[in-house]
Amino acid sequence: MLSTSLNSRPKADPRPAATGAGVGRVELREVTVAYGRGAGLTETSLVIRPGEFLCLLGPSGCGKSTALNVIGGFVAPTSGMALVDGERVCGPGPDRGVVFQHYSLFPWKTAQDNVAFGLRMRGASTAEARRLALDYLSSVGLARFARAYPSTLSGGMQQRVAIARALVTRPAVLLMDEPFGALDAQTRALMQEHLLEQWRDIRNTVVFVTHDLDEALFLGDRVVVLSAAPGRVLLDLRIDLPRPRPREVHASEAFNEAKVRCRDLIRCESRRAFERAEALA
Ligand SMILES: Nc1ncnc2c1ncn2[C@@H]1O[C@H](COP(=O)(O)OP(=O)(O)OP(=O)(O)O)[C@@H](O)[C@H]1O
Ligand SMILES: [Mg+2]
Repeated sequence: MLSTSLNSRPKADPRPAATGAGVGRVELREVTVAYGRGAGLTETSLVIRPGEFLCLLGPSGCGKSTALNVIGGFVAPTSGMALVDGERVCGPGPDRGVVFQHYSLFPWKTAQDNVAFGLRMRGASTAEARRLALDYLSSVGLARFARAYPSTLSGGMQQRVAIARALVTRPAVLLMDEPFGALDAQTRALMQEHLLEQWRDIRNTVVFVTHDLDEALFLGDRVVVLSAAPGRVLLDLRIDLPRPRPREVHASEAFNEAKVRCRDLIRCESRRAFERAEALA
């Protein structure tokens, strides 16, 4: 059974609270990423405030993962730059936690050791790292699988381990690429609430990629829609729905208005991307 709270987290938590002091500002400054002849992103600029929860949407192949990978320091822009708290991103760093679109656990480590890894890298003792890892596995409903290896877990379970691994270090910036895509609807709803609880607690900056409009509007302070490839910002929409948001917010007029606006734009862009691909074929 999934627990939706992290009340079990020890009071004497050795990790710094990620934010609250205005850290976690993310900026993409005219970022272009060229992949061979094609481009993943074109002169994309975006500023994300410390503690903001931003959802990134757009048609398949428009550059959402590329944008996340640039902020994460896994992809170097062809031109332009990403900055975190004013520092140019030159590679991955402990200030940024990542949940990749495709599961990325260490196959030779157990679930618990996968989650403990980042804490060990930050200097926690083995015992402390393993204890916190178990807490976080428990919070995503996987305490029983602490000793399991990734290959013995389902895709959705692996993704929950990856989420626990990203959350446990309380990074100033949390980058999540379709993190709940492999989960069933009920687990997904619980994980959304779990993530929001964490975010309320840590107040870190979250950049969350999803194809699910309901999810984006339920979670985000802001929704950004990218154009068909090569991606650039088409719509930047503030979601002023009050928090905490009850599930019923899905039925509200404001929610539906924003949803229709984003949906029409994404449909139009998806069609454009499809037509362009057909023309090139
Ligand atoms: N390593 C790569 N080599 C060559 N082209 C790439 C590479 N990674 C991405 N691309 C191309 O860059 C564009 C953007 O890809 P990206 O993965 O960022 O899209 P996305 O918006 O995350 O798509 P999806 O919603 O399907 O995950 C696509 O046209 C893709 O084919
Ligand atoms: Mg992607």
